[in-house]
Amino acid sequence: MKEYKKHLQKYLNTARGDILDRLDDGDKIATTKELFNVYFRDHLYGKYRSDDNIILSSGSVDHDIFNMPESLKFFIKYALDRNWYGYSDSRGRLQTRVAIALYENIFFNNDPYTSENICITMGATAAISDLLEYISKNRVKKFGQRVNALCATPNYPPLVKSMTQHFNVELVELDGYNEDCVNLQPLIDRIAPDTAVALIQTVINPSGKKVSEDSLAELIEKTSENTLIILDECHECFGEKVFGNLRTRKNVIRINSLSKEFFAPGIKLGWFIADRDFINDYYEHASSSYGSPASFFYLLMEGLAIFELHRQKEIALDKKLFSEYDISDEKLDELYFDYVQQTNKNRQAVIDNRLYVVEKLKSAGFEVIEPSHSLNILFNIPGTRDSYDVFLKLLLNIKVSVYPGVLSFIFSKPYVRISPNIERNILDRGLKEIIKFYKS
Ligand SMILES: Cc1ncc(COP(=O)(O)O)c(C=O)c1O
Repeated sequence: MKEYKKHLQKYLNTARGDILDRLDDGDKIATTKELFNVYFRDHLYGKYRSDDNIILSSGSVDHDIFNMPESLKFFIKYALDRNWYGYSDSRGRLQTRVAIALYENIFFNNDPYTSENICITMGATAAISDLLEYISKNRVKKFGQRVNALCATPNYPPLVKSMTQHFNVELVELDGYNEDCVNLQPLIDRIAPDTAVALIQTVINPSGKKVSEDSLAELIEKTSENTLIILDECHECFGEKVFGNLRTRKNVIRINSLSKEFFAPGIKLGWFIADRDFINDYYEHASSSYGSPASFFYLLMEGLAIFELHRQKEIALDKKLFSEYDISDEKLDELYFDYVQQTNKNRQAVIDNRLYVVEKLKSAGFEVIEPSHSLNILFNIPGTRDSYDVFLKLLLNIKVSVYPGVLSFIFSKPYVRISPNIERNILDRGLKEIIKFYKS
């Protein structure tokens, strides 16, 4: 049996997180990723699957409630009706990249980006794993051997695993659960001139805590162009967006996707922002690996970026931005109105649900990590010892699923995460059952 499978067996038999925590980083990553697979494939959606389960673990939303605005569906239909599913530029269609650059510039006062800084992707997992492969290939060519990378934790196991396929990876644990924001000092202390890549979530999944912008600036300032800093910004939503200017430095690659902020994880779309020379060189890699993203989604991405930039600035739609298309001004006004209405409603619902659950769990006496961003809530039930054990106990006894923190490399406490954006009566039932189970 493979070594990591033995570690996993031992962990599952004993429910002792310290067994995983004591492993070296290589084994820890392999074992945690395998546990992630066991969780989804064998347990939650495997032998314990049931239509009666209340799923509070999705990391997403109920799409019958948080559905895509009709105006965005209009853009997909428009593209399909015109048969726009041919080949495209490997970085994505130019007009879409222009729109994303316009959108990304609203967070800075010096318009740092143009279309040449943007690459459209098939979501963050694919983008990060592909970038890691691309960067490592270049570094191995240059140095003749595998190079070093740092990965901040908590993190998303598929991405961490992907990193180990290309780099010598060192995990760097970030704390700050009980602070307003997460300090990157442990990473600043570890980063060295020979660090090729550092992977950091700017808002941590599962805690919904944002990293301190000052410590991020300090980290970036400490690095040279030889160290690429990959910022996974997927959870930087449903809270204040404050992006320091250092995020626009040449050695920073910023990743986003439609999975969290735009509620569409299954559509597998996103973008990354990087230095234009980097993106020019990446073109060849993209064209010879996956080709390009699905082209009939480009208008959706373009419309979304343009609508979102107007919504966030609270200004009337500049319809000239759609002049290439055969859509009347009246129709554009109608689409934009629908987009703003539905988006504002959905966003407020996420924030309200977050607050609602925080209060419920706190009044039950649980330790709640209050999120400033994203869709989830992380909490700790006093008296429990291991987060995977909590997941199994809840699923098997009361048919409620939570997401165990151990799957995000949290070993210090048995934190579990819930995603509350589902029908309120189902959410209430799930919460009531959890509280009753651990209070009786
Ligand atoms: C931190 C983080 N990055 C990336 C992803 C995946 O992004 P995508 O769905 O765009 O592949 C997730 C998914 O939960 C995540 O938590």
